[in-house]
Formats: sequence, structure tokens, C-alpha cells
Amino acid sequence: MLLEARGVSMAFGSFKAVDDATIAVREGEILGLIGPNGAGKSTFFNCLTGDLTPTLGSVHFRGQDVTGLPPEARAALGIARSFQVPLTFEGMSVLDNVMIGAFLRTASTAEARDRARRVIERVGLGPFADVSASSLGTPGRKRLEIARALATEPRVLLLDEAMAGLTPTEVRQAIDLVRSIHASGITLVIVEHIMEVIITLAERVVVFHQGREIANGSPAVVTRESQVIEAYLGKRAAKAAHGATP
Ligand SMILES: Nc1ncnc2c1ncn2[C@@H]1O[C@H](COP(=O)(O)OP(=O)(O)OP(=O)(O)O)[C@@H](O)[C@H]1O
Ligand SMILES: [Mg+2]
Repeated sequence: MLLEARGVSMAFGSFKAVDDATIAVREGEILGLIGPNGAGKSTFFNCLTGDLTPTLGSVHFRGQDVTGLPPEARAALGIARSFQVPLTFEGMSVLDNVMIGAFLRTASTAEARDRARRVIERVGLGPFADVSASSLGTPGRKRLEIARALATEPRVLLLDEAMAGLTPTEVRQAIDLVRSIHASGITLVIVEHIMEVIITLAERVVVFHQGREIANGSPAVVTRESQVIEAYLGKRAAKAAHGATP
């Protein structure tokens, strides 16, 4: 198993944002993670990346227990993520933003610049390498966020709503980008509210509701399950969807 959460819980005071999650990410897959707002998806990502230390349970990467490691150490092992709210350094150029990621693998500025330029080309931001990051719109910022993560040369990339706020055309372009990242040998976990993206990209889907995993399977099967429909739309809709009188 590439990345594994074993019995991970994350409590904020008495509130459990993630409750006993045991989820394994297989090498080479695209795993979708879905669930209504507040289900605990971003909190779960934070536990995987070390941005939060789980209250209970453990995180394993390629068999190694990484629960006690900070984000930089996990990134060095090959775990990268994009943030739901892009972590853009506004006053810096696109290139400099991506170099921050590249410095994880090299101490040489020239080498970091080369690597960053290659990644910027790869995500389609080539013409914008030298402009200020603050001049980018939403699609540019989402790509920059992915570029910074890619520059760390991850084995697994966690994308937290990398396509939120994009137009349908931009979403299609972002899907192509995710496919090309996957084709380069990077395992992906994607959190996305746009169901079309999940159905198009994910081979397997885990559904979160109130911090717990309520379903796990192929996108087609999972989205038909009554518990899942109920989590999104409530009991009445779930009954209606299954032909009972509401
Ligand atoms: N640092 C924190 N302190 C207290 N509560 C928190 C904290 N971070 C998250 N929460 C709460 O934990 C729950 C899960 O939040 P989380 O952001 O993980 O949900 P999500 O599934 O990513 O939602 P969304 O789809 O809206 O991004 C929410 O009720 C949220 O308010
Ligand atoms: Mg979130």
C-alpha cells in the first residue's frame, strides 16, 4: 500500500471532524474522496500530509509510520498536496512560487529554477512564469498550486478541490492535466464536489459523511447507494431515488 490511514480520528475539542478513518491508497490509482461540506475531507488530507497530527490512529507511507513527521518530512518522502484555498505568495512571481517546491529536492538556485520552469510548462503556465502570482485568475492559481506541489516530485499528490470555481471548459483542461500527471506515474487522491470530474477520473471513490467513511467502491456503484444520496440530499430524496413513496 502506498499511503494508508489506520483508525485516524481528528478531534477539535469534543467535535470529531474525522472519526476512525481506515483508508488505503494503492500505488498508481486515482482515488476520489467525496462528501458534503464539512464532512472532514480537508481535515483528513491534513492528517495525511502532517498539517495536522491525528488525535488517534496512524498514517503510513510505503510501510513507514509517518504519523509523527511534520509536512516537510512527509513531502521529502513523496507526499504532496494542493490547498483548497491556494497558498500563493502574492508578491512573488509564478516562477518563484514554484521554486519553493523545487527547493525540496535541490539546494542550487539554478537547478531549482530549471526544475520549476519545466513544471510550469507542464501545467500550462509557461507564458506566465515571470509575472506576479497576484495577477493570476482562479484557473491560473489552481494550476500554480498544482505546480508548486509537482515541483516537490511527489509519488502521491492530494488535490483538494483543484477544480472549484472553474468554468466547464477550464474543468475539461484541468481533467487533462490530472490525466497527464497520472500518466507520469504519480498516484492521486482527489477531493472534488464536481461529480462529473470524479466519475471521469476516479477508479475508486470513498465517501465521507460527518467524519466517517460511509461508502467505498467504483464511482458508478457508490453514487447509486442510498446512504450516499441521503448524505447529500436527505432521507426523502434517498427514498424517492429508490422508488419508495417519500
Ligand atoms: N481547525 C479547526 N478547528 C475547529 N473545527 C474545524 C477545524 N478545521 C475544520 N473544522 C471543522 O471540521 C469539520 C470538517 O471540516 P473540513 O474542512 O475537513 O470539511 P470538508 O469536507 O473539507 O468540507 P468542504 O467540502 O466544505 O471543504 C467542519 O465542521 C469544520 O468546521
Ligand atoms: Mg474541504
